[in-house]
Amino acid sequence: MSRFVNTFDSVQTVGNGQTPRRQYTNLDDLWRAAEPYMRARRNDIHIPLSFYFAELLLDDYPDADELVTRVAILLHDTGWARVDAQKMITEGFRAANWRQSDARIQHEIEGCNIARELLPGLGFDTVFITQVTDIIDGHDTRLDHHSLEDAIVRDADRLWRFTPTGTAFSAEWFGMTPREIIENLEAVVLDELITASGRRMAEAEMGRTIELLKIDLL
Ligand SMILES: [Fe+2]
Ligand SMILES: [Fe+2]
Repeated sequence: MSRFVNTFDSVQTVGNGQTPRRQYTNLDDLWRAAEPYMRARRNDIHIPLSFYFAELLLDDYPDADELVTRVAILLHDTGWARVDAQKMITEGFRAANWRQSDARIQHEIEGCNIARELLPGLGFDTVFITQVTDIIDGHDTRLDHHSLEDAIVRDADRLWRFTPTGTAFSAEWFGMTPREIIENLEAVVLDELITASGRRMAEAEMGRTIELLKIDLL
């Protein structure tokens, strides 16, 4: 039995098979263009999962610009591909100030650069690209959000961590046990979620992860 109010019985989310309800602009060309940047830091797992969460959130918040939101989440972590792999772990995950570390700041700057390099060739204009880079810039190091699109990207970026897959990679990267990861999600990350739908999904996903990974025993 989950200790949370929101569970797979009441919340439509990734883990219980919800698919996006709206028709979204096809971004296959952008996925292909971004592919070379997807191999660092298992972005090829994190980004598709967080992208999917973003679409489910967009279903609930139709006032948000779907294209800005989806392009921003797709590209937000591509900058890790230009950060030294060793620094990424030592500074970006395991240093005391990992959230404000040089490696973190560098992956945000490079993510904006990659957006400016890839998007013009795919027909996106300067105004649109600036909306995207405004979200990517500081997505980890900024404490606040400045638009609904920004809020959805931030929530989607966190939501995958509540799944068994996200818990697994976090445990690996931070050098912690799955239980320690879940304790941190519950004590810290849950309260960082901005949207009501994001919060509900996070609880439902976490309840199931606790069950599946036998977190109460291990
Ligand atoms: Fe990031
Ligand atoms: Fe991310």
